[in-house]
Amino acid sequence: MYIVLEGIDGSGKSTQTKFLKKWMQNMGLNVELIAEPTTSPVGQLIRELLLNPHTDKPDFQKKLGLLFAADRLFLKDKLNSLENDKIILSDRSYYSSLVYQEPKEWICSLNRYAKKPDLIILLDVDEKTAMKRCKGTDGFENEAFLKNTRQKYLDLAKKEKMVIVDATAGIRLVQYNLKRVLASQLGLCVSSITQ
Ligand code: TYD
Repeated sequence: MYIVLEGIDGSGKSTQTKFLKKWMQNMGLNVELIAEPTTSPVGQLIRELLLNPHTDKPDFQKKLGLLFAADRLFLKDKLNSLENDKIILSDRSYYSSLVYQEPKEWICSLNRYAKKPDLIILLDVDEKTAMKRCKGTDGFENEAFLKNTRQKYLDLAKKEKMVIVDATAGIRLVQYNLKRVLASQLGLCVSSITQ
């Protein structure tokens, strides 16, 4: 099973994916945690570019779109080889490209061989809360950008049947809600989940 967490920067994806991995392991499940961009050579190039983003250059998002799609193809082999033995839990996926890069039709076409997740969870957070959370770590984020990105995610969530989890609640409540969503998907006993 391939499960993906999506959301804007500051939504808590990396904290929550790490938490969920531990929880699933405690439930006796075999889990592999991955993240996009990956650690492949293409993923490393992406991270370098993101450190000094040329967001004002018209083709920058197109170049990133190509690189993310290539990085994802490297990942696909790994996903296919792991999928039968493990639950794969991913911090971001193809849907991040659909939200962050453009033009949309081209991004769709570039990613047409990307692996489709079995479950997509959108950690939804408003831009003000996200700003507070990523202050000092993501200098280029600004409120208007986060607001716009959040809206794109919410629009996509409807089309792609994402499960939306409110990420503005306290961390323990968010974790509880995430466990409930996963338990029902994984066939675990929902009543055994404590907050
Ligand atoms: P992020 O999840 O913030 O990683 P980290 O916590 O390690 O910094 O992802 C890095 C950035 O990459 C984030 O701002 C969103 C962007 N991104 C895209 O623009 N397109 C994509 O397809 C993906 C996967 C990420």
